[in-house]
Amino acid sequence: MKIGEVFDLVSDDLKKVETELSKNVISQVPLIPKVGEYILKSGGKRFRPMILILAAKLCGYTGIQHIFVASIFEFIHTATLLHDDVIDKAEVRRGASSVNSLWGNETSVLMGDYFFSKSFSLMMRVGDLKVMKILSDATTSLAEGEIMELMKCKDPYISEKDYISIITMKTAVLISAACRVGAVLGNAPLEEEKALGGFGLNLGIAFQLIDDMLDYISNEKEFGKTIGKDLCEGKITLPLIYTLKVCSPSDREKIIRVIETDEQKQQDVFAVIDLVKYYKGPEHTFKRAQDYIKAAKECMRDFDSFKEKQALLATADYVIERKW
Ligand code: FPP
Ligand code: MG
Repeated sequence: MKIGEVFDLVSDDLKKVETELSKNVISQVPLIPKVGEYILKSGGKRFRPMILILAAKLCGYTGIQHIFVASIFEFIHTATLLHDDVIDKAEVRRGASSVNSLWGNETSVLMGDYFFSKSFSLMMRVGDLKVMKILSDATTSLAEGEIMELMKCKDPYISEKDYISIITMKTAVLISAACRVGAVLGNAPLEEEKALGGFGLNLGIAFQLIDDMLDYISNEKEFGKTIGKDLCEGKITLPLIYTLKVCSPSDREKIIRVIETDEQKQQDVFAVIDLVKYYKGPEHTFKRAQDYIKAAKECMRDFDSFKEKQALLATADYVIERKW
């Protein structure tokens, strides 16, 4: 199945999710609908809602709660990005100016809080304790991942294992939770819930690996974010971790000097990006992402070959083919 067909399969439900999201930014406080609509219209991939809908349907769910649960995931994701862009001092998000750069850090943090609170209102509406437990565990993990990332900021000796833990906590756990919640909605046996959770976890790790690879090799127009940003923010991701491992001692020294400098010069950042490309850091990262996609697909082996399973497998391929 092609990714276009996957979108066709979920497009009616995704439209309902959009309606639900818009309903939730209505407020008598004028800045909320203004900034809220700006964010909702900025064209996110709606990746988490999409895989949740597919997982629920694969497990035979036929009700309407999945629309609300999918909206919860999008709201939590949006809240984390609003906070993350403040932490990262990001100027661009989804190809447009970030909320913090247009309205300031205060607005970005508070709008994040607003979206996070809205996700609680929707959780109450769904009223399923098992879903709430998965969601609250996932949001705790998100915060833990970001805090661990902060602790490892500018640390050139970060291990690949610690890096994988960070991206698992900050990204993969929420994607895994979306798959798991789909299984819970469909009343799937625990085995299937775990299999879908494993699929999502591996998929999520691959998703972040590709994100971190694109930070070195994409261009801003396609990627929708600033290139080389991770290095400037002191985030040591796999393309760089691998380069530091295989490069010559003198190149290692050069790279560490740039990492540890407070005010990096643009030409130094470009020099490190060139070294990462020279030592094939992006290729290595891509290969690791492929391994995780293989593991993700393996988790799905016991499901019957329904169209939703084909769609989830196609989504897995798309995660490593994407350019944004
Ligand atoms: C993006 O990473 C950030 C995340 C995936 C997680 C952000 C989580 C938090 C800020 C903590 C939890 C917050 C709440 C409201 C529970 P990135 O910076 O590598 O990606 P980017 O390049 O897209 O910014
Ligand atoms: Mg960021």
